[in-house]
Amino acid sequence: MNQLTTAHIQEAAEYIRAKTADRPEIGLILGSGLGVLGDHMTDVTVIPYHDIPHFPISTVEGHAGELLIGTLAGRKVVLMRGRFHMYEGYGPELTAFPVRVMKALGAGALIVTNAAGGIDTGFGTGDLMLITDHINLTGRNPLIGPNDDELGARFPDMSEAYSKRLRQIATEQAAAQGFELRSGVYAGLLGPSYETPAEIRMLRTLGADAVGMSTVAEVIAARHSGLEVLGISCISNMAAGILDQPLSHAEVMGTTERVKSKFLGLVLAVIPQI
Ligand code: HPA
Repeated sequence: MNQLTTAHIQEAAEYIRAKTADRPEIGLILGSGLGVLGDHMTDVTVIPYHDIPHFPISTVEGHAGELLIGTLAGRKVVLMRGRFHMYEGYGPELTAFPVRVMKALGAGALIVTNAAGGIDTGFGTGDLMLITDHINLTGRNPLIGPNDDELGARFPDMSEAYSKRLRQIATEQAAAQGFELRSGVYAGLLGPSYETPAEIRMLRTLGADAVGMSTVAEVIAARHSGLEVLGISCISNMAAGILDQPLSHAEVMGTTERVKSKFLGLVLAVIPQI
């Protein structure tokens, strides 16, 4: 087990603090193709992941691999352009490590976004879905191993993993912008193969509305750290077997590209309200 300790977190945070005087209040983790938010930051300090002690390096196309610290919609934020997935071979604690660092930098809230396959047949591609809850089907957990009580509780409560307060804000802001924000349960799987149609039928029976390969480890670590979480999925494709067509990463990227202004508008409107 490659256990990351408070010392590793502090070392990464100290490196970042030495690069900027900004003390971020909100962390953002952006999914495939959604890194565009970073372009709207001002007074930004860009730090490549490979320069930050103990940070893993992102390998997926569409994920840039840099940490941005600066101002977004009037608030100080730390934004991950590109995230780490367990399917890349990282353990869950490494996947969640940046969340720990965000907390150490002073963040009190985390916005996570992802691309996801729509399971609810009422959804359409390009819809944005507010994550109301998740089902962790990765079989992994970033909290496995000795617990550091200074970071959080041994058995953290997950009954409100996705903050009601932040969900309310997002719902109001979407309505103000004239679009309907879908909501539902996100099933987090390991990937990287997409699901089979039988697996999607199973997930529907289990109560999932969308499926993806990220987010759950980060959110578990965030809740363990006491961060308030807002999660938004971009329904980039309908899940396997729902439409009579194959799934592709190109479709996922194409849809996120198409909806990025809607996504951007929502997040920029939410941030000042947090
Ligand atoms: N399944 C899993 N992960 C995904 C999907 C999907 O259909 N679309 C985007 N990420």
